[in-house]
Amino acid sequence: MRERTVVLITGASSGFGEAAARLLAARGSYRVFGTSRRAAGDNAQGGVDMLPLDVRSDASVAACVDAVMRRAGRINVLVNNAGYTLAGAVEETAIDEAKAQFDTNFFGVARMVRAVLPAMRAQGGGRIVNVSSLAGLVGVPFHAHYSASKFAIEGLSEGLRQEVRRFGIHVSLIEPGDFKTAVTAARERAAGGLSAYAAARDRALDIMARAEQSGPDPIRFAELLLQILQARRPRLRYRLGNDAVWVPRARRLVPESVFEWLMRANYEMNE
Ligand SMILES: NC(=O)c1ccc[n+]([C@@H]2O[C@H](COP(=O)([O-])OP(=O)(O)OC[C@H]3O[C@@H](n4cnc5c(N)ncnc54)[C@H](OP(=O)(O)O)[C@@H]3O)[C@@H](O)[C@H]2O)c1
Repeated sequence: MRERTVVLITGASSGFGEAAARLLAARGSYRVFGTSRRAAGDNAQGGVDMLPLDVRSDASVAACVDAVMRRAGRINVLVNNAGYTLAGAVEETAIDEAKAQFDTNFFGVARMVRAVLPAMRAQGGGRIVNVSSLAGLVGVPFHAHYSASKFAIEGLSEGLRQEVRRFGIHVSLIEPGDFKTAVTAARERAAGGLSAYAAARDRALDIMARAEQSGPDPIRFAELLLQILQARRPRLRYRLGNDAVWVPRARRLVPESVFEWLMRANYEMNE
């Protein structure tokens, strides 16, 4: 019998991570570990072994990867999915809030990658899938630090992919558009609200929340991940959702000023 592929998915308590963990676990060929900051240790949910993990902590990351190695003896796939959105104008956002955004969304990915690479290199291969965003391709108003953290993941993934190719390790990015997950409810707001931004910011954030909550089901993320894991030579980038396909395409087709006008129109900022 073929050995099962061991997959570790960060942020599997809801949204994309939960959908992906459940779908892979339902296929007999994957042994799936999911994580949550709230996971209580040894609980297996829907065939997914849940482990506690806070990607902001070196110690937590080391303990999580050790637990997978102890239980399964290897890690074939790491899916860096954990993340949240920080909302607010740049002027409203304290540097500590911006650092916290990067600590989870960007350094969390770097911590996980550093923790699994020794095992993947020793095994002679592996796969790393980093969850970016349409906001990692296009700067989003009132989400500029979130966008910056996802732009940073794009750069990290491009460089990393070239570094680890020689070890048989494939690095890919998933770039989703708006999807209906707990991302909207988990959104953090910058504390230093300024009245000069209030009307435009609140309007834009309402439009974003509505776009997410009327977006597609995260099962599509799970199906795409499965496709990536089955690909012999996975690509660097995978766009997910109509908006993630069309917005970057439109940007290439029209002059920059027209694209910016369209972005403002989308968020009702052209008043
Ligand atoms: N939904 C969208 O429209 C959309 C679009 C583009 C990209 N994305 C990206 O997709 C990824 C998943 O988001 P989602 O939409 O599925 O949102 P979600 O339902 O809120 O899931 C986020 C997951 O991240 C985990 N998490 C948050 N902070 C963490 C930390 N410090 N350490 C470990 N885990 C942490 C949460 O787990 P606990 O709270 O249980 O710890 C949760 O399981 C994120 O990177 C997000 O930026 C989402």
